[in-house]
Amino acid sequence: MTKEEQYKELLAQAAAVVAGETDLIANMANVAALIHETFGFWWTGFYRVQNTDRCQVDLRVQTELVLGPFQGPLACTRIPYGKGVCGTAWEKNETVIVPNVHEFKGHIACSSESNSEIVVPVHQNGEVIAVLDIDSKEFNTFDEIDKKYLEQIVKLL
Ligand code: SME
Repeated sequence: MTKEEQYKELLAQAAAVVAGETDLIANMANVAALIHETFGFWWTGFYRVQNTDRCQVDLRVQTELVLGPFQGPLACTRIPYGKGVCGTAWEKNETVIVPNVHEFKGHIACSSESNSEIVVPVHQNGEVIAVLDIDSKEFNTFDEIDKKYLEQIVKLL
């Protein structure tokens, strides 16, 4: 099966799984599992935009990414806006593909095994509410096909 065929199957499975459930966390958990199992990635999961509970420097509400449902090894729990690949995808409000994480300035290494990465923003009412983050042990794993289908998959949530 080509990667595109695998994604088409995955998209149908994800749509079926999400259709009967309204809970975002439950759906993120199953979608992460489906993607992870299909391709055998190193780490697949979500970070959600949450109000920070750290000390507030002013009266504006601060937000940061907080670890959500995932598959794979232990990961860092909080990522500030604009930091790392995840925070960059959130700030730019666009999918970020990183062929070699060691060449990405500010990359946050949760695992020394990761060599390439893709981060896809998740939207609700026009706002970024989370990001889908996938890490691979291989270099150059992700391309426009991954971007196209992963963007469709996160729209199901
Ligand atoms: N590498 C990510 C951090 C999350 S872990 O990869 C699971 C980043 O630079 O934002």
